[in-house]
Amino acid sequence: MKIFRTAREMRAWSRAQRAAGKSIGFVPTMGALHEGHASLMRAASERDDVSVISIFVNPAQFAPNEDLDQYPRTWAADLALAERTGIDAIYAPTASGMYARDYSTFVLVGGVSEGLCGASRPHFFRGVATVVTKLFNAVEPDHAYFGLKDAQQCAVIQRMVRDLDMGTEIVPMPLIREEDGLALSSRNKYLSPEERKRALCISRSLFEARAMLEAGERDAAVIKEAVRDGMSPTDIDYVEVVDAASMRPVDEIRGPVFVAVAANVGVTRLIDNILFEPESPKS
Ligand code: PAF
Repeated sequence: MKIFRTAREMRAWSRAQRAAGKSIGFVPTMGALHEGHASLMRAASERDDVSVISIFVNPAQFAPNEDLDQYPRTWAADLALAERTGIDAIYAPTASGMYARDYSTFVLVGGVSEGLCGASRPHFFRGVATVVTKLFNAVEPDHAYFGLKDAQQCAVIQRMVRDLDMGTEIVPMPLIREEDGLALSSRNKYLSPEERKRALCISRSLFEARAMLEAGERDAAVIKEAVRDGMSPTDIDYVEVVDAASMRPVDEIRGPVFVAVAANVGVTRLIDNILFEPESPKS
């Protein structure tokens, strides 16, 4: 497995692969890899001829009061997992290599980035879109795999790729859960045993929402109220029912929607969602 530290080295390798007729699959990550990342890495290494992950804790997507310094860094375990899932190369730039001291270019994606996490963390999607653009410029991937736990992030990147005519196809991948329902996240490492137990009310509430939707409930307000009730042991940031393409809140469920939530459990911010696609959308 190759490890590259600069965009120039990364790009040279990618271009050599493309010249040899190989497709490149890419999984951008901030490290602290778990089974959710492993599912993306396996998809990239199975579906593409060569596969690359990036490991870079991106300062541009953290506000000054957030957990940039505490964000888990588990380099040795990450390498071992990447190797086991068949990854061919890791791009792991340094922060100073990514962002010069007078760095001043950012990518802003309107619309889809504005609600949900974009409303609570106004700096976040600008940092994500900027770093993903830079990573795509270094790796030049044919396919990039993004997990649907961060459904809004996936929508933001899809919109960016479409609007800026980028040549990478975004492949959304299913959210992965622990056996007891907790959505996999690098931030789960922060939870104490008591907090982890409390956090289970998040997925439980979403499963209850799914059951209500499957039973025919179509009023978003009713769904949101039930989820809010179920999540009361947490400090709720938002509970929303949004159109799966535009990420805009809906009042009545007629087409594919995400029921999306964010909450703090102790000091740990967790997000989760379910995707619901009604069988025959009402007109
Ligand atoms: O989802 C993540 O881990 C990050 O937001 C990403 C896409 C790697 C950009 O830093």
